[in-house]
Amino acid sequence: MTTRAARPDVQAFIRANLPVSAVPSIPEVRLHLAGPRSGLRRLAERDDDFGAPYWAHCWGGGLALARHVLDHPDCVAGRRVLDLGAGAGLVGIAAAKAGAAKVIAADVDPYALAALELNAALNGVALTPLLDDLTRGPPPAVDLVLVGDLFYDRDVAERVVAFLDRGLAAGVEALIGDPWRAYLPTARLRALADYSIRDFGEADGATSATVFAFEPAPAAVMGGPSPP
Ligand SMILES: C[S@@+](CC[C@H](N)C(=O)[O-])C[C@H]1O[C@@H](n2cnc3c(N)ncnc32)[C@H](O)[C@@H]1O
Repeated sequence: MTTRAARPDVQAFIRANLPVSAVPSIPEVRLHLAGPRSGLRRLAERDDDFGAPYWAHCWGGGLALARHVLDHPDCVAGRRVLDLGAGAGLVGIAAAKAGAAKVIAADVDPYALAALELNAALNGVALTPLLDDLTRGPPPAVDLVLVGDLFYDRDVAERVVAFLDRGLAAGVEALIGDPWRAYLPTARLRALADYSIRDFGEADGATSATVFAFEPAPAAVMGGPSPP
């Protein structure tokens, strides 16, 4: 585990090739985002471990959750927040702007850490970057986990749900923003608000994403599993 990405070469590439852009429906935040001439392939060609560059784009779930946090600052104000799967850092930056006491921005991709460090500085907020897969362990010392668009993969989704359950058991709440991806754990969610957003990859305009509270499993609510 490391708390800093320490990739000045990557950050120089991002500065030079991913223009600072307005974030659709989040005018409070600007990000380095990929455009048609960013040439991300040049980064991929020099690194066999280069994965999908999620960190170079805005995603529907994160857009909805960032909008929600900025419109409802009480949900984060004065609280210690974890942005899980932070990508470019949009959700964590929104939480910091809305008054969170501390924001840990965690991702498994070192390129995401490089990008979110730049984006935090660009927006004048402090994030604590963390390069780690937190889903494999106990929750860190936070009050709230924010999950923007992490339910696109079955394995990741299952581990995130287990992680959030360990959080609930430790008194850590969770909010999820998602455009209804395939592995969204709908049975565990209570919808709070719908947002009209522009998801990456949706060429033809606005779509919607929902912000949810993560709820205890029914058996946990009833005090344990039902007898046979
Ligand atoms: C679709 S992007 C969403 C990024 C951001 N939350 C947003 O909404 O804009 C998913 C991000 O989750 C990260 N990710 C995937 N599995 C993860 C894990 N187990 N722990 C932390 N981050 C993870 C990916 O590297 C990627 O940056």
